[in-house]
Amino acid sequence: MPSSAPPPLRCPLCGDHLKVANITGEAAHRSLICGAAHSFDAARQGYFNLLVGKGTVFEADSADMVAARFNFLAAGHYRPLADAVSAAVVARVLPGSPFTVLDSGTGTGHYLRIVLDDVRRVTGEYTAVALDISKFALRRSARLNPEAVNLACDVWQQLPVADAAVDVVTVIFAPRNAAEFARVLRPDGRLVVVTPRAGHLGSLATRTGMLAIEDEKDARLAESLGGHFVPESSRDVDIHMRLTPGEMADLAFMGPAGHHLDRAAIAARLDRRDPDKPDPTSAVDALFRITVFRPVGPAA
Ligand SMILES: C[S@@+](CC[C@H](N)C(=O)[O-])C[C@H]1O[C@@H](n2cnc3c(N)ncnc32)[C@H](O)[C@@H]1O
Ligand SMILES: [Zn+2]
Repeated sequence: MPSSAPPPLRCPLCGDHLKVANITGEAAHRSLICGAAHSFDAARQGYFNLLVGKGTVFEADSADMVAARFNFLAAGHYRPLADAVSAAVVARVLPGSPFTVLDSGTGTGHYLRIVLDDVRRVTGEYTAVALDISKFALRRSARLNPEAVNLACDVWQQLPVADAAVDVVTVIFAPRNAAEFARVLRPDGRLVVVTPRAGHLGSLATRTGMLAIEDEKDARLAESLGGHFVPESSRDVDIHMRLTPGEMADLAFMGPAGHHLDRAAIAARLDRRDPDKPDPTSAVDALFRITVFRPVGPAA
Protein backbone atom coordinates (compact mmCIF):
# COMPACT_ATOMS: atom_id res chain seq x y z
CA MET A 1 0.00 0.00 0.00
CA PRO A 2 2.49 2.68 -1.05
CA SER A 3 1.49 6.34 -0.73
CA SER A 4 1.48 8.12 -4.04
CA ALA A 5 3.92 11.03 -3.69
CA PRO A 6 7.24 11.42 -1.87
CA PRO A 7 6.57 12.72 1.66
CA PRO A 8 7.29 16.47 2.06
CA LEU A 9 10.09 16.06 4.59
CA ARG A 10 12.98 18.30 5.53
CA CYS A 11 16.23 17.43 7.24
CA PRO A 12 16.18 18.21 10.98
CA LEU A 13 19.91 19.09 10.77
CA CYS A 14 20.12 21.39 7.74
CA GLY A 15 16.55 21.96 6.49
CA ASP A 16 17.24 20.45 3.04
CA HIS A 17 14.66 18.16 1.40
CA LEU A 18 14.80 14.58 2.73
CA LYS A 19 14.27 11.74 0.26
CA VAL A 20 13.34 8.15 1.01
CA ALA A 21 16.10 5.90 -0.35
CA ASN A 22 16.04 2.13 -0.60
CA ILE A 23 19.53 0.94 0.28
CA THR A 24 20.20 -2.39 -1.38
CA GLY A 25 22.81 -5.03 -0.69
CA GLU A 26 23.32 -7.37 2.21
CA ALA A 27 21.95 -5.06 4.88
CA ALA A 28 19.08 -3.73 2.74
CA HIS A 29 17.07 -1.04 4.49
CA ARG A 30 15.24 2.24 3.94
CA SER A 31 16.85 5.53 4.77
CA LEU A 32 15.96 9.24 4.67
CA ILE A 33 18.78 11.20 3.03
CA CYS A 34 19.22 14.93 2.37
CA GLY A 35 21.40 16.74 -0.20
CA ALA A 36 24.08 17.30 2.46
CA ALA A 37 24.24 13.51 3.03
CA HIS A 38 22.64 13.53 6.47
CA SER A 39 20.95 10.16 6.69
CA PHE A 40 18.46 8.54 9.02
CA ASP A 41 17.97 4.80 8.75
CA ALA A 42 14.61 3.15 9.31
CA ALA A 43 14.35 1.13 12.50
CA ARG A 44 13.67 -2.55 12.04
CA GLN A 45 10.00 -1.84 12.76
CA GLY A 46 9.82 0.70 9.91
CA TYR A 47 9.82 4.15 11.55
CA PHE A 48 12.58 6.75 11.19
CA ASN A 49 14.25 8.34 14.17
CA LEU A 50 14.58 12.08 13.51
CA LEU A 51 15.16 13.05 17.14
CA VAL A 52 18.25 15.22 17.16
CA GLY A 53 19.80 17.40 19.83
CA LYS A 54 18.35 17.91 23.24
CA GLY A 55 14.68 16.93 23.37
CA THR A 56 11.92 18.20 25.61
CA VAL A 57 11.94 16.65 29.06
CA PHE A 58 8.87 14.48 29.22
CA GLU A 59 7.67 11.21 30.66
CA ALA A 60 7.20 8.78 27.78
CA ASP A 61 4.31 6.33 27.70
CA SER A 62 5.62 2.92 28.70
CA ALA A 63 5.32 -0.12 26.42
CA ASP A 64 2.51 -1.37 28.71
CA MET A 65 0.60 1.91 28.41
CA VAL A 66 0.91 1.79 24.63
CA ALA A 67 -0.30 -1.84 24.65
CA ALA A 68 -3.31 -0.84 26.78
CA ARG A 69 -4.13 1.95 24.28
CA PHE A 70 -3.79 -0.44 21.36
CA ASN A 71 -6.06 -3.06 22.98
CA PHE A 72 -8.71 -0.58 24.06
CA LEU A 73 -8.89 1.17 20.68
CA ALA A 74 -8.89 -2.16 18.80
CA ALA A 75 -12.08 -3.16 20.66
CA GLY A 76 -13.83 -0.40 18.67
CA HIS A 77 -15.48 1.60 21.46
CA TYR A 78 -14.14 4.87 20.06
CA ARG A 79 -15.13 4.10 16.46
CA PRO A 80 -17.73 6.91 16.35
CA LEU A 81 -14.95 9.37 17.22
CA ALA A 82 -12.66 7.93 14.56
CA ASP A 83 -15.44 8.16 11.97
CA ALA A 84 -16.16 11.79 12.89
CA VAL A 85 -12.47 12.74 12.72
CA SER A 86 -12.24 10.97 9.40
CA ALA A 87 -15.30 12.83 8.06
CA ALA A 88 -13.67 16.16 9.02
CA VAL A 89 -10.53 15.17 7.11
CA VAL A 90 -12.27 13.66 4.09
CA ALA A 91 -14.31 16.86 3.71
CA ARG A 92 -11.04 18.50 2.59
CA VAL A 93 -10.16 15.86 -0.05
CA LEU A 94 -10.93 16.59 -3.68
CA PRO A 95 -11.75 13.45 -5.71
CA GLY A 96 -8.72 12.27 -7.64
CA SER A 97 -6.44 15.09 -6.36
CA PRO A 98 -3.25 14.70 -4.34
CA PHE A 99 -3.81 15.00 -0.59
CA THR A 100 -1.36 15.15 2.30
CA VAL A 101 -2.23 14.50 5.94
CA LEU A 102 -0.04 14.81 9.03
CA ASP A 103 -1.10 13.06 12.26
CA SER A 104 0.80 14.68 15.11
CA GLY A 105 1.11 12.57 18.26
CA THR A 106 -0.18 9.60 16.28
CA GLY A 107 0.22 7.11 19.15
CA THR A 108 -0.52 3.63 17.84
CA GLY A 109 -1.76 5.12 14.54
CA HIS A 110 -5.31 3.89 15.19
CA TYR A 111 -7.12 7.03 14.01
CA LEU A 112 -4.82 7.59 11.04
CA ARG A 113 -5.60 4.07 9.76
CA ILE A 114 -9.32 4.82 9.65
CA VAL A 115 -8.71 8.26 8.09
CA LEU A 116 -6.48 6.81 5.36
CA ASP A 117 -8.93 4.04 4.51
CA ASP A 118 -11.60 6.72 3.99
CA VAL A 119 -9.30 9.13 2.11
CA ARG A 120 -8.36 6.31 -0.26
CA ARG A 121 -11.99 5.96 -1.30
CA VAL A 122 -11.93 9.58 -2.54
CA THR A 123 -8.41 9.82 -3.98
CA GLY A 124 -5.68 7.27 -4.55
CA GLU A 125 -3.09 10.05 -4.49
CA TYR A 126 -2.47 10.59 -0.82
CA THR A 127 0.60 11.03 1.32
CA ALA A 128 0.64 10.51 5.08
CA VAL A 129 3.12 11.60 7.72
CA ALA A 130 2.74 10.32 11.29
CA LEU A 131 4.86 11.58 14.14
CA ASP A 132 5.28 10.78 17.79
CA ILE A 133 7.99 11.00 20.40
CA SER A 134 7.36 7.46 21.71
CA LYS A 135 9.18 4.65 19.96
CA PHE A 136 6.82 2.11 21.53
CA ALA A 137 3.93 3.92 19.86
CA LEU A 138 5.76 4.22 16.53
CA ARG A 139 6.45 0.51 16.37
CA ARG A 140 2.69 0.00 16.40
CA SER A 141 1.87 2.85 14.01
CA ALA A 142 4.53 1.77 11.48
CA ARG A 143 2.95 -1.69 11.42
CA LEU A 144 -0.61 -0.37 11.16
CA ASN A 145 0.13 2.39 8.62
CA PRO A 146 2.97 1.12 6.43
CA GLU A 147 2.12 3.57 3.63
CA ALA A 148 2.69 6.53 5.97
CA VAL A 149 6.14 7.79 6.82
CA ASN A 150 6.35 7.28 10.59
CA LEU A 151 8.74 9.66 12.35
CA ALA A 152 10.13 9.81 15.87
CA CYS A 153 10.38 13.52 16.61
CA ASP A 154 9.49 16.11 19.20
CA VAL A 155 6.51 18.28 18.33
CA TRP A 156 7.99 21.11 20.45
CA GLN A 157 10.90 21.40 18.06
CA GLN A 158 10.82 22.39 14.37
CA LEU A 159 8.93 19.65 12.58
CA PRO A 160 10.85 17.76 9.87
CA VAL A 161 8.16 18.69 7.37
CA ALA A 162 8.35 21.19 4.48
CA ASP A 163 6.58 24.57 4.54
CA ALA A 164 3.01 24.79 3.21
CA ALA A 165 2.98 21.12 2.19
CA VAL A 166 0.15 19.61 4.24
CA ASP A 167 -3.62 19.73 3.59
CA VAL A 168 -4.79 18.60 7.05
CA VAL A 169 -3.02 18.22 10.39
CA THR A 170 -4.84 16.01 12.92
CA VAL A 171 -4.07 16.22 16.65
CA ILE A 172 -5.97 13.75 18.80
CA PHE A 173 -5.27 14.18 22.54
CA ALA A 174 -1.73 15.21 21.78
CA PRO A 175 0.41 18.33 22.26
CA ARG A 176 -0.10 21.25 19.86
CA ASN A 177 2.69 23.38 18.45
CA ALA A 178 0.55 26.03 16.74
CA ALA A 179 3.40 27.88 15.00
CA GLU A 180 4.76 24.71 13.44
CA PHE A 181 1.34 23.40 12.41
CA ALA A 182 0.69 26.77 10.73
CA ARG A 183 4.06 26.62 8.94
CA VAL A 184 3.56 23.14 7.47
CA LEU A 185 -0.07 23.65 6.46
CA ARG A 186 -0.99 25.05 3.08
CA PRO A 187 -2.79 28.43 3.36
CA ASP A 188 -6.08 26.66 2.61
CA GLY A 189 -5.27 23.72 4.92
CA ARG A 190 -7.04 22.81 8.14
CA LEU A 191 -6.10 21.73 11.66
CA VAL A 192 -8.42 19.13 13.22
CA VAL A 193 -8.17 18.92 17.02
CA VAL A 194 -9.86 16.45 19.39
CA THR A 195 -10.25 17.42 23.05
CA PRO A 196 -12.25 16.01 25.99
CA ARG A 197 -15.35 17.84 27.33
CA ALA A 198 -16.53 18.25 30.92
CA GLY A 199 -17.52 14.88 32.40
CA HIS A 200 -15.36 12.83 30.00
CA LEU A 201 -14.81 9.38 31.61
CA GLY A 202 -16.28 10.78 34.84
CA SER A 203 -17.51 7.46 36.28
CA LEU A 204 -14.16 5.83 35.53
CA ALA A 205 -12.36 8.60 37.39
CA THR A 206 -14.62 8.09 40.41
CA ARG A 207 -14.20 4.30 40.47
CA THR A 208 -10.45 4.28 40.03
CA GLY A 209 -9.68 7.26 42.23
CA MET A 210 -8.15 9.02 39.23
CA LEU A 211 -8.42 12.76 38.97
CA ALA A 212 -11.30 13.60 36.64
CA ILE A 213 -9.99 14.61 33.23
CA GLU A 214 -10.36 18.35 33.00
CA ASP A 215 -12.34 19.55 30.07
CA GLU A 216 -10.45 21.81 27.76
CA LYS A 217 -12.45 25.02 27.52
CA ASP A 218 -12.88 26.37 23.99
CA ALA A 219 -11.23 29.65 25.01
CA ARG A 220 -8.18 27.84 26.35
CA LEU A 221 -7.96 25.71 23.22
CA ALA A 222 -8.13 28.81 21.00
CA GLU A 223 -5.54 30.52 23.21
CA SER A 224 -3.19 27.52 22.90
CA LEU A 225 -3.29 28.01 19.13
CA GLY A 226 -2.07 31.53 19.84
CA GLY A 227 -2.88 33.79 16.91
CA HIS A 228 -2.08 31.15 14.29
CA PHE A 229 -5.55 29.64 13.86
CA VAL A 230 -9.22 30.58 14.11
CA PRO A 231 -11.97 28.05 14.82
CA GLU A 232 -14.14 27.29 11.83
CA SER A 233 -16.53 24.59 13.06
CA SER A 234 -16.90 22.09 15.86
CA ARG A 235 -18.77 18.87 16.47
CA ASP A 236 -19.38 17.01 19.73
CA VAL A 237 -19.21 13.22 19.84
CA ASP A 238 -20.70 11.45 22.87
CA ILE A 239 -20.08 7.73 23.28
CA HIS A 240 -21.99 5.78 25.94
CA MET A 241 -20.05 2.59 26.61
CA ARG A 242 -20.51 -0.56 28.70
CA LEU A 243 -17.05 -1.71 29.65
CA THR A 244 -15.68 -4.79 31.34
CA PRO A 245 -13.26 -4.27 34.26
CA GLY A 246 -10.37 -5.17 31.94
CA GLU A 247 -11.42 -2.57 29.38
CA MET A 248 -11.82 0.03 32.10
CA ALA A 249 -8.36 -0.77 33.41
CA ASP A 250 -6.89 -0.35 29.91
CA LEU A 251 -8.76 2.93 29.46
CA ALA A 252 -7.55 4.31 32.79
CA PHE A 253 -4.03 3.09 32.24
CA MET A 254 -3.58 4.38 28.67
CA GLY A 255 -4.09 8.03 29.65
CA PRO A 256 -2.06 10.48 31.72
CA ALA A 257 -3.04 8.56 34.85
CA GLY A 258 -0.91 5.67 33.57
CA HIS A 259 2.17 7.66 34.50
CA HIS A 260 1.34 7.51 38.21
CA LEU A 261 -1.14 4.66 38.66
CA ASP A 262 -0.35 0.99 38.91
CA ARG A 263 -2.44 -1.00 36.39
CA ALA A 264 -2.76 -4.09 38.57
CA ALA A 265 -4.15 -2.01 41.43
CA ILE A 266 -6.62 -0.28 39.11
CA ALA A 267 -7.73 -3.64 37.72
CA ALA A 268 -8.17 -5.11 41.22
CA ARG A 269 -10.29 -2.16 42.32
CA LEU A 270 -12.49 -2.40 39.23
CA ASP A 271 -12.95 -6.13 39.52
CA ARG A 272 -14.75 -5.97 42.87
CA ARG A 273 -18.09 -7.38 41.82
CA ASP A 274 -21.36 -6.49 43.46
CA PRO A 275 -23.11 -9.89 44.13
CA ASP A 276 -26.49 -8.21 43.49
CA LYS A 277 -25.32 -7.05 40.09
CA PRO A 278 -24.51 -10.07 37.92
CA ASP A 279 -23.59 -7.90 34.89
CA PRO A 280 -19.92 -7.11 35.45
CA THR A 281 -19.87 -4.27 32.90
CA SER A 282 -20.14 -0.62 33.87
CA ALA A 283 -21.41 2.49 32.13
CA VAL A 284 -18.73 4.95 31.06
CA ASP A 285 -19.36 8.07 28.97
CA ALA A 286 -16.71 9.48 26.67
CA LEU A 287 -17.40 13.10 25.69
CA PHE A 288 -15.31 14.61 22.91
CA ARG A 289 -15.17 17.79 20.88
CA ILE A 290 -13.71 17.90 17.38
CA THR A 291 -12.76 21.43 16.35
CA VAL A 292 -11.65 22.38 12.86
CA PHE A 293 -9.35 25.42 12.69
CA ARG A 294 -8.16 27.37 9.67
CA PRO A 295 -4.86 29.20 9.60
CA VAL A 296 -5.04 32.94 10.19
CA GLY A 297 -4.32 34.82 6.99
CA PRO A 298 -5.59 34.85 3.44
CA ALA A 299 -7.05 31.33 3.58
CA ALA A 300 -9.44 29.91 1.05
C1 LIG B 1 -2.84 10.60 24.69
S1 LIG B 1 -1.75 10.00 23.44
C2 LIG B 1 -2.76 10.08 21.98
C3 LIG B 1 -2.29 9.19 20.89
C4 LIG B 1 -3.21 9.11 19.66
N1 LIG B 1 -3.39 10.39 19.01
C5 LIG B 1 -4.53 8.54 20.07
O1 LIG B 1 -5.47 9.29 20.33
O2 LIG B 1 -4.62 7.29 20.18
C6 LIG B 1 -0.63 11.36 23.23
C7 LIG B 1 0.50 11.04 22.26
O3 LIG B 1 1.31 12.21 22.12
C8 LIG B 1 2.67 11.82 22.09
N2 LIG B 1 3.52 12.93 22.54
C9 LIG B 1 3.63 13.46 23.78
N3 LIG B 1 4.54 14.44 23.80
C10 LIG B 1 5.04 14.53 22.53
C11 LIG B 1 6.03 15.36 21.92
N4 LIG B 1 6.68 16.30 22.62
N5 LIG B 1 6.29 15.18 20.61
C12 LIG B 1 5.62 14.23 19.88
N6 LIG B 1 4.67 13.42 20.42
C13 LIG B 1 4.38 13.57 21.72
C14 LIG B 1 2.71 10.64 23.09
O4 LIG B 1 3.84 9.81 22.89
C15 LIG B 1 1.39 9.93 22.79
O5 LIG B 1 1.54 8.92 21.81
ZN1 LIG C 1 20.64 17.61 6.13
